[in-house]
Amino acid sequence: MLEVRGLVAGYHAGAPVVLGVDLELAPGRVLALMGRNGAGKSTLLKAILGLARREAGSIRLDGRGIETRPTEWIVRAGIGFVPQGRGVFPGLTVEQNLRLGGLGHHRPVPPATLYARFPVLAERRDLDASSLSGGEQRQLAIARALAGAPRLLLLDEPSEGIQPSLVDALGATLAALVAAEGIGILLVEQNLELAARLADECLVLEDGRVIDRLPGAVLADEPARIERHLGL
Ligand SMILES: Nc1ncnc2c1ncn2[C@@H]1O[C@H](COP(=O)(O)OP(=O)(O)OP(=O)(O)O)[C@@H](O)[C@H]1O
Ligand SMILES: [Mg+2]
Repeated sequence: MLEVRGLVAGYHAGAPVVLGVDLELAPGRVLALMGRNGAGKSTLLKAILGLARREAGSIRLDGRGIETRPTEWIVRAGIGFVPQGRGVFPGLTVEQNLRLGGLGHHRPVPPATLYARFPVLAERRDLDASSLSGGEQRQLAIARALAGAPRLLLLDEPSEGIQPSLVDALGATLAALVAAEGIGILLVEQNLELAARLADECLVLEDGRVIDRLPGAVLADEPARIERHLGL
């Protein structure tokens, strides 16, 4: 269980971007984080991981404060991260990317296990990661994070830039991860349909603050409530 309280964070001292955010993420749950471009979504994820400058607030994992821990400690403690963008290592094969994802972890998940969840990666295992399509690279980035056997996954805009026809398959893969493995996902997502499919709850971030909290069902049943916040 991840508990964030009053988190203030950014990049430069005295100029925070995230201005006092509270959130909870439990295993087996999906918390969507939505908001316009520049709202601070990516910065919030980076701050949880110790990749942005944390100025105030607490971050607890299973009751233990982690806000002063270095990123490698946090990731090893079970918080996986898939950054915004394609996020694969070009010049390495698919399988090498997956092995790197397990590096430094107590019990890395072997590529064979990951291929069962991402069959297309098995077919591409010996290819250079940069030769994969956008959607395949996104799957590889997610699989690489899973190689560290995380309990919680911070996913930054997994559907961005991939073909609409593949977003559905991505949703099915993520739903299966949550259902079968009990992984908790903090999902930054601009695709309302994907967020509505997966989210138990949705936070709306604007100018670094949470301005609304909606049950996931509202995304599907009353999309106008969220579209207003996103300027859609
Ligand atoms: N590395 C950085 N150094 C300084 N400022 C940054 C950096 N990255 C982002 N910012 C600023 O922080 C603010 C929030 O950016 P952030 O990337 O967190 O927004 P976002 O909600 O993820 O947006 P998007 O939907 O475009 O991904 C913006 O004003 C941005 O210019
Ligand atoms: Mg972002």
